[in-house]
Amino acid sequence: MQINNSSIVIKGIGSYMPKKILTNKDLSGIVDTSDEWIRTRTGIQQRHICEEGEYTSDLAAKAAKNAIEDARLKPDDIDLLIVATITPDMPFPSTACLVQTKLGLGQIAAFDVEAACSGFLYALDMASAMLETGRYKNAIIIGAEKLSSIIDWKDRTTCVLFGDGAGAAVLSRTKESNTGILDCCLHADGAKPELLRMPGGGSQIPASASSVEQRQHFLKMNGREIFKFAVRGMERAAQEVLDRQNVKIADVDKIIPHQANMRIIETIQDRLEIPKSKFYNNLQYYGNTSAASIPIALDEAYRKGLVKHNDLLLLLAFGAGLTWGSTLLRWHKP
Ligand code: UT7
Repeated sequence: MQINNSSIVIKGIGSYMPKKILTNKDLSGIVDTSDEWIRTRTGIQQRHICEEGEYTSDLAAKAAKNAIEDARLKPDDIDLLIVATITPDMPFPSTACLVQTKLGLGQIAAFDVEAACSGFLYALDMASAMLETGRYKNAIIIGAEKLSSIIDWKDRTTCVLFGDGAGAAVLSRTKESNTGILDCCLHADGAKPELLRMPGGGSQIPASASSVEQRQHFLKMNGREIFKFAVRGMERAAQEVLDRQNVKIADVDKIIPHQANMRIIETIQDRLEIPKSKFYNNLQYYGNTSAASIPIALDEAYRKGLVKHNDLLLLLAFGAGLTWGSTLLRWHKP
């Protein structure tokens, strides 16, 4: 909801994927799975994986550099940095602080947001609100993950799903009204954290020989329950911003959902009755990159010329927490 005569727009967009590729065939040599099972159940064909010595902050800094260049800004122009991630380089300091130094930014505000796969949309709403105060001019928001570092490579039900990568956007104020970020909705329901979590490494189960032995430092998921929640959550989030903005789903030009499973996305397509062609998907090549998935897909869609000036875009996310949300925006890249 615009509250004054200016707008917050995405001025620059960028992404970065680590070079190493892990195919379904490669995975079938690690766990009892097959290319056929992974493709038919998820749509994923391959994922990118960090090399040893390559961290979330490295991916984040490279994606952010591309976004800042795309915005035709200099590092000095950026005065707010938010990183959305569930795989920080370390519990603290924040990955945002590490990225600030890697990018050579000034002593600007920098912090992490932890809302799992919905993290980029949480960061986007926070940055928009902070820019609207007038106290900040240009924000860089980044979704970055090295999920390969928390995946149990012995658990075939999860290790085939995820990948590493980063996407970033520069948000800025513009004098034009009714463009850019039009509305956001964010939700969370913490009643069932066990559906998707990494139990170890926090204050509840600090690292110990027994926590390692019990494989508590890996991602654990109830796939079937998350599947049902994902469909419900993204459908509700889409409806909420559309209703509030009095926009029909048919008026939306492009939908970029969180890239977790093609069957989830196809179910949403059916339930919202939207043609497949309005969705942009790339999970075939990257798997689920959590907080990075939406900005990576948005960057790709833009670079392929599939997102044009004045297009109405709907971004949809769901993730651990449980969290979910949506963003409605008019694409306006000065
Ligand atoms: O960003 C949020 C993250 N998470 C998600 O979005 C995940 C949402 N959930 C899903 O995407 C799907 O539930 C999965 C892809 C995780 C699983 O698909 P499913 O159709 O729900 O499969 P299932 O869990 O019902 O398992 C069916 C069978 C089981 O065998 P049995 O018990 O029927 O004999 C599994 O053991 O498939 C088996 N299976 C596998 N087989 C080969 C599970 N994983 C694999 C695998 N390869 N990798």
